[in-house]
Amino acid sequence: MTERERILTGIRPTGSLHLGHYAGALENWVKLQHDYDCNFLIADYQVSDYADDIAHVRQSVWEVVLDWLAVGLDPEGSNFVIESLAPEHAELTTLLSWFLPLSMLERNPTLKAEMAALEGGEDPSVERKPVPVAFFTYPVMQVANILMPRAHLVPVGEDQLPHIELTRETARRFNHRFKDVFPEPRAKVGRVPRLVGIDGNAKMSKSRGNTIDLKDDAETVAKKIRGMYGGPPRGATEPGDPDENPIMLYLAAFDPDEAEVAELRQRYATQGLPNKELKELLTKHLNELLEPMRERRAKYAANMPQVREAVEHGTKRFRVLAQETMEMVHDALDMNYLEQY
Ligand code: TRP
Repeated sequence: MTERERILTGIRPTGSLHLGHYAGALENWVKLQHDYDCNFLIADYQVSDYADDIAHVRQSVWEVVLDWLAVGLDPEGSNFVIESLAPEHAELTTLLSWFLPLSMLERNPTLKAEMAALEGGEDPSVERKPVPVAFFTYPVMQVANILMPRAHLVPVGEDQLPHIELTRETARRFNHRFKDVFPEPRAKVGRVPRLVGIDGNAKMSKSRGNTIDLKDDAETVAKKIRGMYGGPPRGATEPGDPDENPIMLYLAAFDPDEAEVAELRQRYATQGLPNKELKELLTKHLNELLEPMRERRAKYAANMPQVREAVEHGTKRFRVLAQETMEMVHDALDMNYLEQY
């Protein structure tokens, strides 16, 4: 029997998940879960302002779990893991930090952008916060997350690619210098690498308040879409570039009928289509996508002890694998001092 390849991927518990998470990553997770041994991680250690709002993190852990269940991840066939309940992550982070040059972290574009945001960017009205040391250790910890179950594949959003590259580099260095312990994991980005926000901003993100959340009810979705940015001003029957209109981009992403999308794009570009009509169509398709998620979510939310148990068991199963890896690492690094005499 050949061993199945393993997946590790994760999300920081900072709030509910939205359509950007779905199209960029979650949709892939759901598809891949039957062909790989999957580990889905709630990365609570990596909320670098954890101490600022512990109550929010505590609540978000379960929000994320419910969103995962809502999209159709199976917590029995896969491992749902809470990072801090598998403290092997903390140890592996320490050991791997020997292998990751600081200069590689400093060049990481995702980190650079996050650092600028933390420091308040150009906007003087944004409160400046000191950057915690945890900010520098979190990418190392993400490397440790991925290497812990010796993962082969990491399905993630586009913004995570620099971190996967760090992981590959760390695995290469470790294997080369010591023993072949870690596969070099491949990244896999979803169908829509980056979804625009409902305000037309290049990226849907909670901090910008421009999201449609997976748990939004039908009326909230309709209302958000009514207020959605519809591209540069244009008469209702004036042709336009469909790629400049987020409504068209969302239809391309979430209308399952490809022929319909092709036709709409064609008509939009040649004779124009009123945004009002497009918004109604989008509302219908999004609610069709989200309704089964809402139903699954509600079913699980009504039975949190069962959800808790699934996460507890997933974390336990993961720790068996984690401890096996830690033994291999100790062995490779010749750290078994007590066996010396
Ligand atoms: N950094 C990721 C995010 O912000 C979350 C994450 C933590 C992750 N550990 C991971 C993603 C391991 C993939 C693999 O969303």
